[in-house]
Amino acid sequence: MRIEPAKRLRGRIEALPGDKSITHRAALISALAQGPTTINNYSTSEDCAATLRCLEQLGVAARREGNTVTVEGAPSADDFGARLTRPAAPLDCGNSGTTMRLLAGVLAGQPFESVLKGDASLSRRPMRRVIEPLELMGARLSAEEGRAPLRVEGRRPLSAIDYEMKVASAQVKSCVLLAGLSARGTTRVFEPFAATRDHTERMLRWFGVRLEEKALNEMEGEAAGRVISLEGGASLAARDLDVPGDISSAAFLIAAAALLPGSALEIGGVGLNPTRAQVLSTLRQLGAEVSTEGASERCNEPVGDIVVRSDGDARGLTPSQLAPSQGANVLRGPLIAQLIDELPVLAVLGTQVEGGLEIRDAKELRVKESDRIGAVVRNLRAMGAEVEEFEDGLRVGGRTPLRGARLDAHADHRIAMAFTVAALSASGASEIEGARECVGVSFPEFFELLESVTER
Ligand code: S3P
Repeated sequence: MRIEPAKRLRGRIEALPGDKSITHRAALISALAQGPTTINNYSTSEDCAATLRCLEQLGVAARREGNTVTVEGAPSADDFGARLTRPAAPLDCGNSGTTMRLLAGVLAGQPFESVLKGDASLSRRPMRRVIEPLELMGARLSAEEGRAPLRVEGRRPLSAIDYEMKVASAQVKSCVLLAGLSARGTTRVFEPFAATRDHTERMLRWFGVRLEEKALNEMEGEAAGRVISLEGGASLAARDLDVPGDISSAAFLIAAAALLPGSALEIGGVGLNPTRAQVLSTLRQLGAEVSTEGASERCNEPVGDIVVRSDGDARGLTPSQLAPSQGANVLRGPLIAQLIDELPVLAVLGTQVEGGLEIRDAKELRVKESDRIGAVVRNLRAMGAEVEEFEDGLRVGGRTPLRGARLDAHADHRIAMAFTVAALSASGASEIEGARECVGVSFPEFFELLESVTER
């Protein structure tokens, strides 16, 4: 994929494809509900198509018309929820970690054996983080060296557990909560750090599940956290829903507009869930002019418009330059889990920020669709940036002109999009190996939408 530098981004994007994280949950949870659910603005990502295909293999009927998907919930067989059908072949999760980890939680409570497989990247990613809690609940799982394919021997009912999370992962939390639906007793998940994305909790409530959330106050140096609990055997009532635009997709467009002076971009109907919107605050702290408008709540999720300008403000000041407020040059600690998918593009932006940017406590990035720390470091260096690599992050020098280069997407959608943004702001054209092939994993419309607001 060849990317020419751009002058600026201007315009309004009315709506973005549906949020990938929310769509996965909508598909999985509606499959467990009584009755049909119509999901509007179903994510167009390949990942969410994989979730739907897996559910169909499990006997769930789904009808897709454009971006509207109607899922017929599987009937309940007993007091422990919907009963899926034993799949005839392994369930292919493609590139999607969310599909594999959340579905493992659902399958743990089904009275049959199934196998979850994935592509080369997904087969390298760690699965022990879900195997461990699901085995404590009574299911049997096996995976060679903790990697997919993952064999799940379900048990019904499972036994409820109190589980303290070891990694800040919404996928692990969601896996345990979904398994908890078919467990006897109360399942409690303890998140000892900042809240990871809470779409599962919000969606379960939308379907009528009584879920309790308790914040634990900071005590004598102990980290604050929260406990989420649910009673097994709750019945889920089908209920139509609208999926908001994906803020993690929006982040690439916002970052491009913040980087290119003279830009003014609006994006309508984006999900603004506080456990996802940290990227907007971080961009502001780095000096970007980003605001939200018209926020409201739809189907338990906050939604609104995002406006980003780098063409000077109403008082006629000079164009804003990326200069961070105090202490904003280091991203670390509890913040990281809420920025996890946006860190590659923030690292790109960091090369243009006064004083640069350091990202730490982010070793999870090494086990995403690619080793995202390695991929960002290599690509930024190829563009002439000064980069120091750490096991858990990186540091980029600030205000460094980037030059067009030969780059590699590492078969990772977010690396492809982050470096498309970098290439727009570089001097000279760039070539990104494998970019066109992989953006569809989360955002198939990316290049087209970007082009529609790009001025050269
Ligand atoms: C996701 C959680 C995050 C995120 C991923 C989607 C989810 O992964 O990186 O893109 O939908 O729950 P982890 O749970 O591994 O942090």
